[in-house]
Amino acid sequence: MTTNKILIINGPNLNLLGKREPDIYGAKTLAQIIADVRVKADELNAEIDDMQSNSESEIIERIHQAMDDGTECIIINPGAFTHTSIALRDAFLSISKPFIEIHLSNVFAREAFRQRSFLSDIAVAVIAGAGAHGYELALQAAIRHLRD
Ligand code: DQA
Repeated sequence: MTTNKILIINGPNLNLLGKREPDIYGAKTLAQIIADVRVKADELNAEIDDMQSNSESEIIERIHQAMDDGTECIIINPGAFTHTSIALRDAFLSISKPFIEIHLSNVFAREAFRQRSFLSDIAVAVIAGAGAHGYELALQAAIRHLRD
């Protein structure tokens, strides 16, 4: 059976999950979310690498690395960079690997500035509002995309 190599990137302020606005983002820490997704990945025969950074440049560097480190698909919660970063968009266009955009909250039901994304139209899929479970959904969508 094929093992798919998937990279999960979490952007700014997501290191504070569990403490940060739990009514919006839930009670789970990022470490718990990643641990849960790794259990699912084992079941689905996928290999996960993950990183969190508050720095746009570090995230861009990691996306560049994904060009030739065997990564097949990226799952990214870009945090607020979703709504601001043309540089992230250009990084994804540069590496031309499939990616899935994920948000814990339903960004479309929030402030107008959160309803614009510089990434959604070039993503394979966008998952928003499913909370921490969205990471598992994103993993399933990534694997389905790679295996179909
Ligand atoms: C978020 C939504 C963004 O608007 C916000 O800036 C975040 C988290 C989410 O997961 O719901 O940091 O990406």
